[in-house]
Order: sequence, then C-alpha cells, then structure tokens
Amino acid sequence: MSAAAYIELSGVKKTWNAQGRLTTALAGIDLVIEKGAFVSIVGPSGCGKSTLLQIMAGLVPSSDGLVRLHGQPVREPPRDMIYVFQQYTRSLFPWKNVQRNVAYGLESRGGLSAADIAERTAQTIAKVKLQGFENHYPWQLSGGMQQRVAIARALACAPDVLLMDEPFSSVDALTRVGLQQLLLDLWQSLGLTVIFVTHDVDEAIYLSTRVVALSRPPAHVGLDLTIALDHPRDAILTREHVHYLDYRHRLLAQLFADEGIASGAVHS
Ligand SMILES: Nc1ncnc2c1ncn2[C@@H]1O[C@H](COP(=O)(O)OP(=O)(O)OP(=O)(O)O)[C@@H](O)[C@H]1O
Ligand SMILES: [Mg+2]
Repeated sequence: MSAAAYIELSGVKKTWNAQGRLTTALAGIDLVIEKGAFVSIVGPSGCGKSTLLQIMAGLVPSSDGLVRLHGQPVREPPRDMIYVFQQYTRSLFPWKNVQRNVAYGLESRGGLSAADIAERTAQTIAKVKLQGFENHYPWQLSGGMQQRVAIARALACAPDVLLMDEPFSSVDALTRVGLQQLLLDLWQSLGLTVIFVTHDVDEAIYLSTRVVALSRPPAHVGLDLTIALDHPRDAILTREHVHYLDYRHRLLAQLFADEGIASGAVHS
C-alpha cells in the first residue's frame, strides 16, 4: 500500500451473469484514493459506475481484484463507509417521520442508548438544515428535502467515507445547486472522503478534487484529472474559471470521443 492510499482498488474486474448472459462491466480498475478526497466518477450510461461503487461499498463482490480501505480488504460493507442511493424515494421509509428515518441507521447499528440516538439524530437534522421538520413524513417534503433526509441518515452514523450514486439526479437545477453546496460544506466541516458517481461533467468538476472518467464497457480508467481549483467553491465564479473550462473541455472530449460523437474538441 502506498503512503497516501486510503482506499485502494487493484485490478477490480466485474463480469455479471444475468440469465446466462455474461457482461463484463469492469475490465480491471486500479485507483488509489487519498483520505479527504472528493472523487467523482463519470462515464457513459451502462459503463459500470454503479457497479464500481457497489464493489467499493462491499455490497457486491468483484470477479477479480481487490478493494482495500486503510489496508483492510473490503468484503462486506465497512462500518465507516456509507452508501447513499440515487432514489431517495426508495431508501426512505414512508411510514417513518424525518426523525425516525434519520435515527434508523443508528438504531440498526446497535450499541447506543436511546438518549444518545436522540441527541445525534437532532444534531444531524440540524446539519442538513431540517430543524422544524422532524415530525414530517417523507411524502410531506419536497424532493430536495427528502434527499437531505437521506444524507442525514447516512451522516448520523458518523462515516468517514460517503459513497453516492447520482444522488442529485432527480431534483430540479436550483435545488441541485443547493444540495451541492450543502454536500461541499459537510465534506469540508466533517473531513469526509466522498466518492460521487454522476453523469454530469459540470457537477463532477464543480464538486471534486479529482474526476475519474470511465470508458465504455468493459470499462477502464479513460481519464484521471486532478481538479486544482480552490475550495470553498463559488456557485458562479468557479464555473467560469479558466481551469474549470479546460477540465470540462478535456472530460467532454474524452467522453464524446468514446461515444463516437463528433466535436471540435482539441485533444490533449
Ligand atoms: N445486478 C446486475 N446483474 C446483471 N448485470 C448487471 C447488474 N448490474 C449491472 N449490470 C450490468 O453491468 C453493466 C454496468 O451497469 P451499471 O449499472 O454499473 O452502469 P452505470 O455506469 O451505473 O450506468 P448508468 O449511468 O445508466 O447508471 C450494464 O451492462 C448492466 O446491465
Ligand atoms: Mg448507475
């Protein structure tokens, strides 16, 4: 393990077998991720982004290769890593109010008193700015608020690593910017390591310290960019920064070339 390795993927391959049909989603992924990084994974639909995230989370076994979290092989979901699903409507319990939904993760882990759970739940609800909505049910909240409940449920368990699969794809553009800002604030204040899957190149660059583009399946790492833009980011100025535009150009050139889409991009 190299000195900076916190999460390390070596030769991670995945072949799915669905009704006897074999699909190799991941050809062999090598990645070394530092603690505290915000890494986005982009790539064409069906290239294996969700598969890769589920393997990192210990939810799905790889066909070959290994994931390590601070040196330990990941073979089941580690306690300090939490997976946030894309569909908050599916991950929240409609029959539990906000307080019960957020407390659920803590209750199912065990080892905490009811008073501790209540205190941590209240603190986490405050972190995602949902005070006053504790007694609301998910269906009484907007989509953006429901996604904040899902984030709060993950954060209540005080994870070191958040794995997020297109978490903001079903909310409107303005709500999405608000959620991005909230996530960046939480990432910085809590010192999280975030692995974030998105199909949106702009979202990836705006949020991340690094963007990894997967190729068409069987996927390999097509481009691995360090995003040298200062945090905290500015919702307008960061997106107009000359480096931002250069990263955007390079990522779109990679993705479009991979898809066979003609463009005037200059390859570098
Ligand atoms: N549980 C599964 N069983 C069989 N095949 C699967 C399973 N999950 C994914 N696959 C296959 O693996 C490939 C990669 O799928 P995956 O969902 O990881 O892609 P993705 O990059 O997340 O796509 P999208 O951007 O559309 O979400 C696809 O060909 C898909 O059909
Ligand atoms: Mg997916």
